[in-house]
Amino acid sequence: MRPNEKFEQNGRNGEHIITNGFCMPSLIMKKRDGGKLSRHEIEYFIRHVVKGNVQDGQLGAMLMAMFIRGLDDAETASLTRAMTHSGDVLKWPKEWKGSIVDKHSTGGVGDKVSLVLAPALAACGVKVPMVSGRGLGHTGGTLDKLESIPGFNVSLSHDDMLKVLEDVGCCIVGQTSNLVPADKILYATRDVTSTTECIGLITSSIISKKVAESLDSLVLDVKFGQGAFSDTEEMARQLATRMVKAGNRSGVKTEALLTDMNSPLGYMIGNALEVAESIDCLHGKGPKDLTELVKQLGGRLLASANKAPSLEKAFSMIDKTLHDGTAIAKFADMMKAQGVNADVADKLCAKDADVFEILPKSEHTTELKAKTSGYVHGIDAMKCAVVSGKLGAGRTKAGEAISPDVGLTLSVQIGDKIEEGSTWVTVHHNGELPIVLFEKISGAIDIKPDIKQTTGKVLGVITENISEQ
Ligand code: URA
Repeated sequence: MRPNEKFEQNGRNGEHIITNGFCMPSLIMKKRDGGKLSRHEIEYFIRHVVKGNVQDGQLGAMLMAMFIRGLDDAETASLTRAMTHSGDVLKWPKEWKGSIVDKHSTGGVGDKVSLVLAPALAACGVKVPMVSGRGLGHTGGTLDKLESIPGFNVSLSHDDMLKVLEDVGCCIVGQTSNLVPADKILYATRDVTSTTECIGLITSSIISKKVAESLDSLVLDVKFGQGAFSDTEEMARQLATRMVKAGNRSGVKTEALLTDMNSPLGYMIGNALEVAESIDCLHGKGPKDLTELVKQLGGRLLASANKAPSLEKAFSMIDKTLHDGTAIAKFADMMKAQGVNADVADKLCAKDADVFEILPKSEHTTELKAKTSGYVHGIDAMKCAVVSGKLGAGRTKAGEAISPDVGLTLSVQIGDKIEEGSTWVTVHHNGELPIVLFEKISGAIDIKPDIKQTTGKVLGVITENISEQ
């Protein structure tokens, strides 16, 4: 044993652990008292978390110390790096170097961007190994949406992913069990110790999973507003800045867009409904806000991967795939490669298909009418999310079943003119629509007599190139 090594009796089963001069209580004390943890201390912490050597109380105490004292840029970068290497790191053929791209969204209501973006990017020749999540909250996540397509398989091994990327160029899959195992442990404890809302912990959780995909370029969609994780643009800006720095320091070219989530994205909210709207968008007939966001996020990735001579050209390359049939063809190919019967995939992607001949449809629909004429000043994204969730589109506990067929279809967006008595939203439900939900959704629209000026959803861009420290 070297002189500075100690025995520490803190294993879960009471076993002794040899440490390199650190011990958990002293690391917790250092952070508790406002000290900065070094890269080696953070690596030590994560290594022992994954080995199961850190007691529940110690983990909770460290997370609370990190939450209260905060993590600076260097600590966040060290934590991100240690978490990334806590499990498998995906490996790709060297010929793909420079072309491996992905996006992460902090989550929003009606956010179906991934379903459109991955095929559009693949149609431009880059590789998109999109590792996505299930929704925990009011609305389903990307995987839940895709699973409303009969046969869609989100559980691919690394070899399966390689094949799909080789053949198609994009895949959308769930996290494999050994990708960033440290995050699974930390996240579960953060959830039960009120330590989730910490910028350093959120950043390392999100960025480590993306770095473990071995990406060359990453774009982040950081949303703010009623239906988002960050209430204000300022909070979103802080989170985006930290994530951009952590991504770049981890060797992934990272940029972020700040986007408005006060009203839903597009017109459709709900799992199968959002697949239907994504298919429209892939045919070049999507809502303006969704199409614009896909262009902006995809264009930034193409430019970052040096696939376009300018940002403007990159935006138009993405737009072209949505109008020339190449993005929808990639979506069909991705579905087939991920388990969907070829006839079903072709039918879903046929021009002017009735996609609800294939996608699940709710038993009932109820239309709500505008009580006054005027202009739409607001559609409360949070109220839409809560109602969709209560109808069964989301889950409150991991592993809970969701209903693929329920949700909302809006007939208007902010700025639109609306006449009294016309339908502004259709609720898709199974069984009777409870009166509380009817009342809640009725209160989601704000109609005023004066014209409402609108801005697009994208309200800022965060880019920062930081060299490795
Ligand atoms: N999503 C994640 O993956 N981690 C967080 O901490 C928050 C959102």
